[in-house]
Amino acid sequence: MSLQYKIDQIRATIESEIQLPALPAVAMEVVDLIDNPRTSASKLGKVISTDQALTAKVLRIANSPFYGFPRRIATIDFAIIVLGFDAVKEVVISLSLMSALQRRSDEHFDTNKFWDHSITCGVAARRLARDLGYRVSGEAFVGGLLHDIGMPIFHRYFNKDFREVIRLQREEAIPFYDAEKAVIGVTHQEIGGWLAERWNLPPQLTDVIINHHRPNQADVNKELVALIHLSDVMCQKMNLGTSMFDYGVEFDVNALQTLRFHDASYVDTLVEKYKSIFEEDLEKTHNFSD
Ligand SMILES: [Fe+2]
Ligand SMILES: [Fe+2]
Repeated sequence: MSLQYKIDQIRATIESEIQLPALPAVAMEVVDLIDNPRTSASKLGKVISTDQALTAKVLRIANSPFYGFPRRIATIDFAIIVLGFDAVKEVVISLSLMSALQRRSDEHFDTNKFWDHSITCGVAARRLARDLGYRVSGEAFVGGLLHDIGMPIFHRYFNKDFREVIRLQREEAIPFYDAEKAVIGVTHQEIGGWLAERWNLPPQLTDVIINHHRPNQADVNKELVALIHLSDVMCQKMNLGTSMFDYGVEFDVNALQTLRFHDASYVDTLVEKYKSIFEEDLEKTHNFSD
């Protein structure tokens, strides 16, 4: 079977034949709200209230000892005030995605480790965006969370090829995306991009998914894509939220200018400076996802 034939087949499968996991309606609406600066807390509250399980979860988080609020928080609007607007959006999208893409792990793919990597990358991106002042608004966390979304789809729907990629990656000690290219002709970036289109994700998030390993090719928000690339590399260097899939992935010096760094050694400086900060942030965030 030629590679081009395989690429076409995979694309066609994702675009039409297979029943892809649906992004819950609530998450869709919340993704839309991210983009809209006029979104109010009460509008967000209304959207969340349409989903009982999600509402309960958000209330439980707001009432957790972590926030130490003296009175019981009983309404979603109040929970949004206590947690903060961005935190609530992040919680809703993470929880919806995890339930949409839930699947038991096997020896080739550990779902928990995958989400660990995704959340870690999101947490790192959010922190770096704040500290370094990138113009990425509230999308840093969600971008990090979503960047490798093609991975579970690849594993779930093209399992035989996925196993072959893993075998090749191990045998040749090459980056995962090179092994993907050799076996199926496309990578988890493209697969994730097709999924993002079917889910109608905002273009800047699709951009992150497609270009997180080659940030200079980003065409919607270069800063956001470079930031997610940086976070992905940093987490791997720190051994945080371990992902075997990012083995051998190096920082792309083409992203230096976009990130306003003088040279690539600054990435190592950041790795040293941020390790304990990311770990602390992660601990707080894990209160959300338990
Ligand atoms: Fe990736
Ligand atoms: Fe990654």
